[in-house]
Amino acid sequence: METGLSILSSDFSRMGAEIKKYGRSLDFIHMDVMDGSFVPNLTFGPPVIDSLRKITKLPFEAHLMVVNPDKQWKWYRKSCGRIIFHIEALRSPIALIKEMKGVKKGIALNPPAPAEKIEKWLPHIETAFVMSVPPGFSGQKFDPAILKKIARLRKKIDAKKLKCRICVDGGINLETAALCRRAGADAVVASAYLSSGNIPQKLAALKALR
Ligand code: DX5
Ligand code: ZN
Repeated sequence: METGLSILSSDFSRMGAEIKKYGRSLDFIHMDVMDGSFVPNLTFGPPVIDSLRKITKLPFEAHLMVVNPDKQWKWYRKSCGRIIFHIEALRSPIALIKEMKGVKKGIALNPPAPAEKIEKWLPHIETAFVMSVPPGFSGQKFDPAILKKIARLRKKIDAKKLKCRICVDGGINLETAALCRRAGADAVVASAYLSSGNIPQKLAALKALR
């Protein structure tokens, strides 16, 4: 299964070294951008991500947990090939979807939001991004109620033969990733789980999930 690392659990005083220690075993790096308004936490923005861009060739994605992704997405397109915004942040995503050219587009759904909220947009995006914890912090517990949402999105995507992938973020470990995979997810993002223990072994096991 495609696996990305969120650097949210890493030591922010040595982010470059933290990223390098994962080597090439990751598929992508997930940048949790928080503005202190959309979520009750504040992380980093374009200057930090642009600096990190120089130390690895791994694809970057920006997860924008901000109140105005329609204004901010452009700040991230230089360094991040995929930009994910929250459906909860906009009245309608249509204008933003049309405007976002030259990047892969993802729409994130918080745990309470039903799949229906983004079904209409699935033909126009590259990633349906399912949050399995309330956004804002790493190390929270996976909410199994989102498995039904993944299964429903999978059905819609397959029925219409869409190219959209499904990625799950929050509380991911080998066990919860396996549940997501079984429900129909293509990818996962993990932070706390990949911050300690035998990381190469954990990554290999996640990537081997079928
Ligand atoms: C939560 C973030 C996640 C988070 C995942 O707001 O969007 O990317 O870092 O962390 P874990 O894997 O520790 O739940
Ligand atoms: Zn995230």
